[in-house]
This record gives sequence, C-alpha cells and structure tokens, in this order.
Amino acid sequence: MFKLMLVLLALGVPASAETMHADLVLHTDRPGAVIDPNLHGQFAEHLGEGMYGGLWVGETSLIPNTRGFRNDVVAALRDLGVPVVRWPGGCFADQYHWRDGIGPRDQRPVRINTSWGGVEESNAVGIHEFMDLAEQLGAKTYVNGNVGTGTPREMQDWIEYMTSDAPNGTLAQERRANGRDKPWRVDYVALGNELWECGGNMRPEFYADLYHQFATFVKTKDGNGPKKIAAGGYGDNVRWNEVLLRSNKKDIDAITMHHFSLPTGDWKKKGPATGFDEAHWMSVLRQALQMETLIAAHSAMMDRVDPNKKVALFVDEWSNWYDVDLGTNPGFLRQQNTLRDAISAAIVLNIFHAHADRVRMANITQMVNVLQAMVQTDGARMLLTPTYHVFRLFKPFRGATQIPVTRQAPPYRFGKDQIPALQAGAARTGDGHVQLALVNLDPHRAAQVALLTDAKEAAGQILTAATMDARNTFDAPDMVKPAPFTGARLAKGRLLLDLPAKSVVVLELR
Ligand code: AHR
Repeated sequence: MFKLMLVLLALGVPASAETMHADLVLHTDRPGAVIDPNLHGQFAEHLGEGMYGGLWVGETSLIPNTRGFRNDVVAALRDLGVPVVRWPGGCFADQYHWRDGIGPRDQRPVRINTSWGGVEESNAVGIHEFMDLAEQLGAKTYVNGNVGTGTPREMQDWIEYMTSDAPNGTLAQERRANGRDKPWRVDYVALGNELWECGGNMRPEFYADLYHQFATFVKTKDGNGPKKIAAGGYGDNVRWNEVLLRSNKKDIDAITMHHFSLPTGDWKKKGPATGFDEAHWMSVLRQALQMETLIAAHSAMMDRVDPNKKVALFVDEWSNWYDVDLGTNPGFLRQQNTLRDAISAAIVLNIFHAHADRVRMANITQMVNVLQAMVQTDGARMLLTPTYHVFRLFKPFRGATQIPVTRQAPPYRFGKDQIPALQAGAARTGDGHVQLALVNLDPHRAAQVALLTDAKEAAGQILTAATMDARNTFDAPDMVKPAPFTGARLAKGRLLLDLPAKSVVVLELR
C-alpha cells in the first residue's frame, strides 16, 4: 500500500483520488458536417521569433535550410501536415506594405515593427518567401491584407502581382523579374485584422464600409480569386460581426473571431506558463471550454442572418496567453508550453469539430516560438511542444464526418468552481472507421469511460504526464509525447476505457 501511494504521488495523483465513471453515446446515425482540414490551421506573424529565427534563418545560415527556411522546423511541420498558414499578421498586417518585401533582399527597406517589440524588420521575408514556405509545407495560403495603413490601390496591386499571368502586365512582369514566373494560388485574403483595436480603432460600421471598398478591388481575371475574409470581433463581440454580415454578405466568404485564454483574465498580469497552481489549471480549461459558448453565440446570429450558411466563421486566432518567459522581450510573446496547453488544445479542437457546419477554419496562435506554439527553437535547436503532439494525434479527424457525442460524467470540482471532467469528440473517416478523442480534464481523478459500439478493435495513443506543467525542454525534448494507449477493453459490444487523470486519448474504432 505504501509503495502504491509513492507511485501515485510520483504521478501527481493524490492517493485518495477515486476513479470517476462516465458513459458516452456516439450518435453514428446522425452524422454531422465534414470537418474542414483548415480547422487545424496555423498562424505565422512577423512577431518575435515567430518568423525570423524560428522559420527563416537566411540562405547563408549555418543552420541547415532550404532557400532560407530551416529544414528541421519545416520537416516537423510537414510531418504535422499544416493545412493552411496565415501571414504576415495579426497586428503586423495593418502596418505591412507588401512592396517592402520584394526585390533583392539587401535592398529592401528596414522598418520598425512597432506592433511587436519595436525591433527592426528587415523585410527579408516577403511574399516570394512566404509563398515558398507554403509550398515547402504543402499548405494553403492565407494572406492578411492591410486596411489600417493601406489603401485599396495597394491591395489591388498586391492581388495582381500575386495572381496575374498577363504576358505584358507590368506587375506580372515585375514578379517574373523577381524570380517567380507563374502566378501563385492565393487561397484566402483577409482585409485587415482586429480593426477594433490594433488595426485602427474603428467602429464596426466604419470598418464595414472600408471592407466593402477594399473587397471590391480584390479580383482576379478569371474570377478564380481568393476567398475574402472580414476581420471580426473579439470573443463575445457578436454585434461587430452582425454589423459586418448585415452590411452585404454577398462579398464576404468568412468572418473571423479571436479568443485567448488568460489564467487570471487580466492582460497586465496574465499568469505564468509553468509553476502555476490548480486554480490556474482550471481557469485555462474553463476558458478553453468557453470556445463552445462563443461559437454558439456567433453561430446563432449567423444562422439568423445567413441561414444557408454561405458565410463561414473562421477562428483565425486562438490560444492560451501567459506572462512571457523571464528575461525575454515582452513584445516577443515567448512562453512555455505544457501539458495544460495540450489538454486545452484538445478541448478546443473537439469543439471546432462539433461546429464544423459553420466553423471552417481556425489558426492556432502561433506556429513557431510565439504564444501556444507548435514548435520552439533556440538557436540551432528545436523542440516539439505538447500542443504539437495533440495536433498530430488529431490528424485523422481532418476531412472526416463529425459524429455527435453525448456524455454523462461527473464534474471536475476545484474550490467553488466546477467544469465538466470529461470531454469527447468523434468522427467517421473515409474508410468507415470511427475516430474518438477523449479528454480527462481532472488533474487528480482517473476516469473509466463506457460506450456501446459494434467495433471489433480499438487502438490509439495517449498524451499525459506526471504534472500539470510538464513540458519539453531543449535538454529533455521528449518529456511529454504520445504513447500507445493500453487502457481499452472491448467485450460484448461494450468498450471500456481507463483514462488517467489529465490526459488526452485518441482512438480508432474498427
Ligand atoms: O497573436 C498575437 C496578436 O494577438 C495578433 O497580432 C493580434 O491580432 C492579436 O491580438
């Protein structure tokens, strides 16, 4: 008994924690929408080491690279299969002028990145480099245009530069002279970002007019232009999005929404990324669950104004946001990534999948080194974060058909607060198999989950760790990584799953 208690304590499990029981029902007879792969999209801003150092090291770097992009990071992201990348911002997008980033690199102007840390922006990465990165990753392209300090003319020229194949067109010729013969495929163009604040502190009515003015000039010769995205409100600011949607939905393919989870809820002192207490664990997971409420509120409004669901909701920024790592530039938003981030990412992905009928893109903030990153670098070294591993586990959900899930489970309680202890999502892949993703939010109690199924096999992987803030470091990069799941038992049409505390399990039922 004493030995068992020591083992449990080492695993971070209080010896008294009992196992909770939960029942799941997969409504396979009521298939939902197809889960757009873009729901697993990423975001790469010119912010801190999100681009420079993290992705771009330049062709002359000692760090192995392909045309300037580091091979280790690109290989890790290729392995993940990034479906779409948003670039160049964020707030940076509304101060970015695309002409600064074309032509010989040593002749490009150096600007000050006033959005992020006041550092020099070399413009070494411009549209040619971004498109090369997207090609190296095999990702779709999401270019965020500048409305805050740009003009419709600038936007129009950029679109023509990227997409025109006119033999004598001046902008197409300029692109060719800069090394790109064929036009690029631009899949998505957003017109501005967070216009209610860093994008220009506008009212929604003012932005709606500007949006349509700019959108008018986003057109390509053959009509095969990018999907147009209107920059939405933050979190529960449904009114902002409603003003936009009612303004003229014919010219809007998607409206965005951003949601960040801060442990304290206070932007001045957000809370630490590691060494946090259970109150902060619960707070972050509660805010991850809140994504459901926010999407429901936006969807309800959109269902009224756009009942045929022509316009999509894109959550093109979402993540946990903590105090920056000690000693780092506060403008670089560098933070550690722990098991808490993995658990919350799994919760949010399950929510996106459940709302795939309206939510058709989401971009975690961000891809490398910034906020809840997939990958972190330190000079020539690189590590995969717990959040990366969750995205990898969830890969089979891309393109699958969502299956509604209902559950009966006890709550996870801390102090006077309580949230669901178990969250689940399911989908059917093209080959007919069912993917099941389960999250145990309780940091102390294991869960035994039961469900009825006609599957003959259940196999998958688990992501968990001994402590709430377990993380990967450059010296120990494999502290948190998936392992084969051994807690599944199938008997007489019933599947029993033993989930440890604070874990994510993704299974395939065949
Ligand atoms: O991702 C960091 C910043 O967060 C983005 O630039 C901005 O759009 C958001 O507020």
